[in-house]
Amino acid sequence: MKILVTGGAGYIASHTNVLLLERGYDVVVLDNLVNSSAESVRRVEKITGKKIKFYQGDCRDKALLDKIFSENDIYAAIHFAGLKAVGESCQKPVLYYENNLMANLALAEVMAKHNVKRLVFSSSATVYGTPKKLPLTEDMPTGEVTNPYGATKMMGERMFSDIQKADKDWHIMLLRYFNPVGAHESGLIGENPRGIPNNLMPYISQVAVGRLKALQVFGDDYDTPDGTGVRDYIHVVDLAEAHIKALEHIEEYGVGVFNIGTGVGYSVLDMVKAFGKACGKEIPYVIAPRRSGDVASCYADGTKAKELLGFEAKKSLDDMCADTWNWQSKNPNGYDQ
Ligand code: NAD
Ligand code: WQD
Repeated sequence: MKILVTGGAGYIASHTNVLLLERGYDVVVLDNLVNSSAESVRRVEKITGKKIKFYQGDCRDKALLDKIFSENDIYAAIHFAGLKAVGESCQKPVLYYENNLMANLALAEVMAKHNVKRLVFSSSATVYGTPKKLPLTEDMPTGEVTNPYGATKMMGERMFSDIQKADKDWHIMLLRYFNPVGAHESGLIGENPRGIPNNLMPYISQVAVGRLKALQVFGDDYDTPDGTGVRDYIHVVDLAEAHIKALEHIEEYGVGVFNIGTGVGYSVLDMVKAFGKACGKEIPYVIAPRRSGDVASCYADGTKAKELLGFEAKKSLDDMCADTWNWQSKNPNGYDQ
């Protein structure tokens, strides 16, 4: 079975591609490399010993999508392509709405034209906005998102749900990822942010490898056990597995909505400590003011994915840190050697 992976050179996609290939799927990647490197595709081929068909181009380009669906007998698409930096989305909302929403529409239109109506969409815990109750369950309200990036995910969910409502032949899985971290155990692929990382784990790992001086801990006065923000970090290889499960169960759903997390929250200082253990040195940090838009705590109730998809995250916080460090220390400059 052939799977089209949009944004297939990116962080989560590259780990998903490894599992897809290992489980016998064929992988067709579409990526414009706006936030990734073709080297990740080559490394996935190296890990698996299998070939990927790679189209470099834009997911908004309907002519290119048409060509891809004409040239390949695609069973389903996993739609990762999108811009994802929260801060940048506040500075450049037009870019984010244009890129993320037009990519959704172009893909849905061309898939329908070719009668390929199975889609897994990368959504995000960000659709819940500020949690009113924890852990978050899938039936909690969405929509009060705090930034344009989050709005594109919320609108993406709505678009795909409306498309399925109008045409019941569609099977769509909306996966709400919590905080993906970690890397493949080979150390050949991992997260490769451009510029100074916005997210905690890549920031810590760049401090550990000497690229950055010290972590700024954004606030130590939250209502959490140690005062720092609590999040549900999930190993990217576990997250990749959730996509396989979603594909295996896709025919059972019109629209399926699933939280993909571990259900366990760790604080910023928990992460600093665990990473220090993994890399064998203390991570220097300073307490800084809260980052605007951050919430105190956010973690998933993963019961639905466990009961209906048979998905459960297996990897520990120590695995997340050890694998991140393995990748970062072997590739101090990511894919740009
Ligand atoms: P990533 O930036 O590594 O991967 C996204 C990929 O999409 C990149 O390779 C980029 O080049 C590509 N892309 C972007 N716009 C494109 C377009 N118009 N046409 C073709 N390719 C395009 O990010 P990631 O962390 O792997 O995230 C993958 C998906 O998961 C994104 O949709 C993201 O919003 C979502 N998500 C990520 C997180 C997270 O924290 N990493 C959390 C929740 C949801
Ligand atoms: C985690 C914790 C920070 C950096 C973001 C998006 C979300 C989703 C995942 C895509 C928080 C603290 C961070 C630093 C710090 N992405 N922190 N110093 O904000 O939970 O989620 O990525 O969908 O939409 O908002 O992740 O890794 O940025 O922050 O103290 O330099 O680490 O305050 O408590 P976040 P994060």
